[in-house]
Amino acid sequence: MSFDLLLKGGVLPDGTQADIAITDGKIAAVEANISAEAGETIDVSGQLVSPPFVDPHFHLDATLSYGTPRINASGTLLEGIALWSELKPIQTVEEIEKRAIDYCDWAASMGLLAIRTHVDTSDEDGMKGVEALLSVRDKVKDYVDLQLVAFPQDGLYRAPAAKDCTIRALDMGVDVVGGIPHFERTMEDGRRSVTELCEIAEKRGLMVDLHCDESDDPLSRHIEQLVYETQRLGLQGRVAGSHLTSMHSMDNYYVSKLLPLMAEAQVAAISNPLINITLQGRHDTYPKRRGLTRVPEMIKHGIRVGFGQDCVLDPWYSLGTADMLDVAFMGLHVAQMTSPADMTHCFNMVTRENAAIMGLEGYGLKKGATASLVVLDAGGPVEAVRLRAQRLLVVAKGKVIARREKSPMTLSIPGRPESVDRRF
Ligand code: FE2
Repeated sequence: MSFDLLLKGGVLPDGTQADIAITDGKIAAVEANISAEAGETIDVSGQLVSPPFVDPHFHLDATLSYGTPRINASGTLLEGIALWSELKPIQTVEEIEKRAIDYCDWAASMGLLAIRTHVDTSDEDGMKGVEALLSVRDKVKDYVDLQLVAFPQDGLYRAPAAKDCTIRALDMGVDVVGGIPHFERTMEDGRRSVTELCEIAEKRGLMVDLHCDESDDPLSRHIEQLVYETQRLGLQGRVAGSHLTSMHSMDNYYVSKLLPLMAEAQVAAISNPLINITLQGRHDTYPKRRGLTRVPEMIKHGIRVGFGQDCVLDPWYSLGTADMLDVAFMGLHVAQMTSPADMTHCFNMVTRENAAIMGLEGYGLKKGATASLVVLDAGGPVEAVRLRAQRLLVVAKGKVIARREKSPMTLSIPGRPESVDRRF
């Protein structure tokens, strides 16, 4: 028997060692000591072999635009939204498409092979992004799976054309229904928007992912309505609330009622640690709130929680490297998830948990799955997070798309022999 590709001696995220055989874009076997011919055999002994990184929350229509037309001086979410409104009219479909493809190539080099991206559907300017990202979704489909969310950034009711544009985007083939209830004019408008958006998703058989309660206001409780509508409309397992930062500041008694309802409705949560720790708490003096939602508490209640990246070099965030290990690293710190089991779970959040939230089919290192994976210069998940380990190999749908030679530093400490190839 001959395989296309054979990886020998890798360490899987659960700590077991196995060879992985790949044929026709699928994983043909995951077993110890596979001895067979292969088009290429690669020794990955002692290296972590993981299913690819997955980002369930991103904004590809804004990425890599940092500084255009100016930077966000206050660093707040609201100035970011205002700045985005200055950028939208002056950017072209071609510019958005080029930046998005540049980002996808960068992501692929980091082993990030599936991205859920929101795309602004507030107005005609936003629709340039819809046109661009539908084209990009097709152009990158052999190496990155893109899932698009119709996102009326300026409010479904607050922006006059948002509802029409959002429906039009879904008609054009955008995959998921988005929204932003806390940005509507009133709490009541926010509540109504949740109901209407969930009804649209139910009629079309789509998933829902709302920017929900991205605020330090403890009374921003649109997650409650999202959970209610999920139950009422039978959308269990297809709905996610992104950010949920107000939960950080909510009354504990109220949260003790809310979390079991989220679990019952199988509403997932997507926390965005890099952005939440940067944007939230900006109106506080001291003490300053962290603004991250209650990640470990939700996990304890059986709620699926993912970590997203949200932004890279755009009106809201001036840094970022398409590295989901940076996201896990920040999330681990801010959520204080520092036990070995919790740290391992943080790695799993940026891989398999995010994949489950996006409903990715054929994900994982098992026979019959899509042959997409990343080899990391680390001995296990915790070490990968600690080092934000280098990607040595990226395989997308059966093809090697990125390779990197290990580049050990030569360290010369006076009085000691040379030390090389050591993970610090
Ligand atoms: Fe976002």
